[in-house]
Amino acid sequence: MKVLVIGSGGREHALAWSVAQSREVSEVLVTPGNPGTSSEQKVRNITLNISDHAAIEEVVKTESIDLTIIGPEQPIVEGLGDFLTEQGHKCLAPTTFAAQLEGSKSFAKEFMKRHKIPTANAFVTRNIDEACAHIRRSDFPIVIKAEGLAAGKGVVVATSLNQALNAVRNMLSGRAFGDAASTIVIEDYLDGEEASFIVLTDGEHTLPFATSQDHKPVYDGDKGPNTGGMGAYSPAPVIDDSVYSKIMERIVSPTIQGMQEENNPCQGFLYVGLMICNGDPYVVEYNCRFGDPEAQPVLMRLQSDFAMRCLAATDAGGLKGQQLKFKKNCTVAIVLASPGYPGKYKTNLPIKGLNANVPGTKVFHAGTKEDQGRIVTNGGRVLTVVSSGPTVELAQRNAYARAKKIQWSGVHMRTDIGHRAIAREREKTT
Ligand code: AMP
Ligand code: GLY
Repeated sequence: MKVLVIGSGGREHALAWSVAQSREVSEVLVTPGNPGTSSEQKVRNITLNISDHAAIEEVVKTESIDLTIIGPEQPIVEGLGDFLTEQGHKCLAPTTFAAQLEGSKSFAKEFMKRHKIPTANAFVTRNIDEACAHIRRSDFPIVIKAEGLAAGKGVVVATSLNQALNAVRNMLSGRAFGDAASTIVIEDYLDGEEASFIVLTDGEHTLPFATSQDHKPVYDGDKGPNTGGMGAYSPAPVIDDSVYSKIMERIVSPTIQGMQEENNPCQGFLYVGLMICNGDPYVVEYNCRFGDPEAQPVLMRLQSDFAMRCLAATDAGGLKGQQLKFKKNCTVAIVLASPGYPGKYKTNLPIKGLNANVPGTKVFHAGTKEDQGRIVTNGGRVLTVVSSGPTVELAQRNAYARAKKIQWSGVHMRTDIGHRAIAREREKTT
């Protein structure tokens, strides 16, 4: 089987690497990919414009691709999955309609209301005066979200009236996120611990991946602006057996069934961003794709044949009776970012130390490129270093041992990825 992976981030490197592990897979093509994907066995990069759907279909035909997997949300929302499926090709991605669960926060909120799926109360508006009046009536903190896609950065958790009013004005004026914020969602603050719950679904059956937790703020102690994710680990101990059952019963099953009942079955990856408040899960957001960086630590633990499960998920009912198995170990993923990220950052900085191996670790590339035989930075999130270990603490230690060998001018990483799980582990042993 030949597989095409669309995208160039750390998630796509992990997807391509994981798919290539299958004995059934002869080759994986990645477009545009990165220097990390092209260095994997059985993986080849191919340069294409991912907005050019006809060019992608041409490659699917000439390379005899059996399955296309779309990594990022943008090409899904732009209809690449719909196009390939309509042309008779197997493509693992939700339809653009189903992808509104991610692409439109008001669509997601309305859907959750219809299906009684627990989430924060929300007020949706396009009007500055209405938004400001609502905020003046509200308690703090309060959460202000751009309606559309904003690369994980379109959310402000405001702790004061001024901060909230500024966020509303910045978003609705179009200054902050352009059209993505021409409508905003103002949401009650959920006080709890976050976790990521990702499933593979054929629209009817779901196979849950191992649980994980992301660290979105840029600095240690969860300080500073939100990013796409500065690190993640798996499993997330906040999801114990009881919380796991509640997530499946109250959130995952009604979401998959609700989309099916509304004739919009949701196929592919469904990522539920959760807040666990006193043992009860609430939806913070839906994503119709794998998480980045969650894919890196989660797929490192996967034992089952990922490629074959992905292929099966493209057929209605294809996942019936199947399972995903995970190793018992823990994994921790550290994101190495450019100085300045998530704001403006420099690129083309030479990266040193990429080959300094530490056993049990793996480096996934994201914002890198090759320049005259050297690997240089080419994005905000540059690399993800993942390590496995018997505990989160040991996995973390090993991941940092590898991460610290990698250098470029101004490299930034958080130094506390996994801190909540490690605190729990220490509590247990004392
Ligand atoms: P989102 O893009 O909707 O996932 O939001 C980004 C981040 O903002 C989340 O990962 C949370 O840390 C935070 N956040 C979003 N909504 C809420 C909420 N209702 N209460 C508390 N924090 C939130
Ligand atoms: N790590 C968060 C996301 O992929 O949206």
